[in-house]
Amino acid sequence: MSIEYRHVKDSEFDALASLESIAFYGRPRPDDGEYLRKLTKPEWTLAAFDGGKPIAAVRSIPAARLMHGTQTPFALISPATCQAAYRRQGHVSKLLRQSLELMKERGQPISGLYTPHDALYRRYGWERAEEKRNLSFDPGRIEFRTPAPPGKTRPATQDDWKTLDAIYRRHVDPLNGALVREEDWWRFSVMIDWEDKDRRAREIVVWADESGEDRGYVVYQNRPTGQRENGWPQQEIWVRDFVALDAGAYRGLWQHLLTHDMASNVVYESHPDDPFVDLCEDPFVVTVTRGEGPMIRIVDVEGAIASRPYAGGSSASFTMRISDESAPWNEGVWRVEAAEGKMRAQKTDAAPDVEMSVNFLAPLYTGFRTAETLAAVGMITVHRAEALAEITNAFAVTDPPFTQDYY
Ligand SMILES: CC(C)(COP(=O)(O)OP(=O)(O)OC[C@H]1O[C@@H](n2cnc3c(N)ncnc32)[C@H](O)[C@@H]1OP(=O)(O)O)[C@@H](O)C(=O)NCCC(=O)NCCS
Repeated sequence: MSIEYRHVKDSEFDALASLESIAFYGRPRPDDGEYLRKLTKPEWTLAAFDGGKPIAAVRSIPAARLMHGTQTPFALISPATCQAAYRRQGHVSKLLRQSLELMKERGQPISGLYTPHDALYRRYGWERAEEKRNLSFDPGRIEFRTPAPPGKTRPATQDDWKTLDAIYRRHVDPLNGALVREEDWWRFSVMIDWEDKDRRAREIVVWADESGEDRGYVVYQNRPTGQRENGWPQQEIWVRDFVALDAGAYRGLWQHLLTHDMASNVVYESHPDDPFVDLCEDPFVVTVTRGEGPMIRIVDVEGAIASRPYAGGSSASFTMRISDESAPWNEGVWRVEAAEGKMRAQKTDAAPDVEMSVNFLAPLYTGFRTAETLAAVGMITVHRAEALAEITNAFAVTDPPFTQDYY
């Protein structure tokens, strides 16, 4: 068997769409190839071919991740697939390694992906580095502690994406972990249900205050649960995107969502610090569970650190030995310096203060974990104990890492 690894060609998008749908246990839709051609570029997808047919593929979508007002080029892996007959033969492994080289060449120093298979991607340096807080509740049982604010909701459509984007950017620019969204992302990832066979449009509502200024929006959809109660089909409201610039918008948008009387449940995958539960008269009517965030990979230590803002105290400096079998350019001892809002990393011959796999640099980088936490469970080997506080200071964040996007 001779397998060829290369980028897909425009003429191969239909076969690629079919491979990806079947691998995810879906049925290919007749226009899947056409959509792939419209929404992605051939050079984003590396595939393995047997006899000219794609049998495995990894797509790296170029994006940008926001952190405290700066944007870092970011490669989203979505999806990684292998045809069942070719699995566990190392094809996706080869494609992931080649993708890392491409990201480095393309100046994308960090990458992210969503997966239920942590063990697979950990082998290649991705690590859990963000999370969400899942809230679910019966809307009929929610009573808020604050009064409904004056203001109005109005329905919006996909053509209003710029209105939503303006509200979104005001909210997420200073925060940590959101993606910059282009028009296609708004239309095809946020505003429709891509997995639905008809790519159903989601509901969109904008909230404006008394003066008429737009201060928030919500994108959500009704999902049938497949169950019936007293003969009635049950449904839940899934909140895809919720942005409120102030307390009025927050309260007003929730008020809108609670009017969905036919829903037996509302599901919201919220920011880890979202205060929704505190706003409820009875916090125990809300079920709170840990929600999945993306795994993150530091593809290029030097580039990733150079583009990261520094939000810590006066200055920080430490050395770290990084091991990275899949991206050998990261291997070695690095001196990291942080001062006056900026960071940089340079290779050094100095002894390392700490040692870690590139995996654990990801939760430090995003601010998901502190150096002390990782050291306490053996994920960082410490040679100079005082360095831990320097590292935590260097990677300080003003807000936990969080994105409402899925990929
Ligand atoms: C998951 C999937 C992409 C793996 O592709 P593959 O070509 O079989 O993977 P590889 O053979 O390159 O595996 C590389 C390594 O990861 C391991 N691995 C593969 N799939 C794994 C999984 N689901 N969980 C944990 N480890 C896994 C392999 O055992 C191998 O380890 P080794 O090098 O120690 O032997 C493929 O099974 C698939 O398409 N599944 C259905 C769609 C899917 O789940 N996609 C990923 C969603 S994020």
